[in-house]
Amino acid sequence: MSRGLRDALGCFATGVTIVTARHEEQDYGLTCSSFNSVSLEPALVLWSLQRNNGCRDVYLNSGGYTVSVLAENQSELAMRFASGDHQDRFAGLKLQRSPSGRVLVPGCVAWFDCELKQSITAGDHDILLGEIKAFEHVQGHGLIFERSRFGKLAVAA
Ligand SMILES: Cc1cc2nc3c(=O)[nH]c(=O)nc-3n(C[C@H](O)[C@H](O)[C@H](O)COP(=O)(O)O)c2cc1C
Repeated sequence: MSRGLRDALGCFATGVTIVTARHEEQDYGLTCSSFNSVSLEPALVLWSLQRNNGCRDVYLNSGGYTVSVLAENQSELAMRFASGDHQDRFAGLKLQRSPSGRVLVPGCVAWFDCELKQSITAGDHDILLGEIKAFEHVQGHGLIFERSRFGKLAVAA
């Protein structure tokens, strides 16, 4: 992809999530900014996964995923979950689990427990469409990602 296209797409500010999966008693998690809502009835969401991701098979074949929406003070976790061994990424975290048994990131502002309904290969990514089975949210603001930088919401007057 050209640098210019990447830079132009980066102007679209998003939230930041960590998407977890669990397979053969092992936890997996990665930072994801492509999460988005699709439908309220039924409750559907999506995110897209790089096809060369080392854990592609886990995310496509473990039945579902759990999305934790990071709080504005969690940019260090966003960086931690973007590289390195997946099990190491969870080190030192006081793990909480959603009803599905997958990890929830402590301190997140919202989480969504999703059953994988469909995966659609789209260029160099797979789109993972999920149905929300359980969710929760708390007070607070989410972390923002724009032009390759993390930030916080400045509420308009
Ligand atoms: C802010 C941010 C947003 C990201 N969003 C995505 C995303 O939407 N989809 C994706 O596949 N990777 C995304 N990544 C990169 C993955 O987190 C990273 O490639 C992955 O954790 C590497 O795992 P692996 O070593 O198992 O391949 C993002 C990284 C950062 C820092």
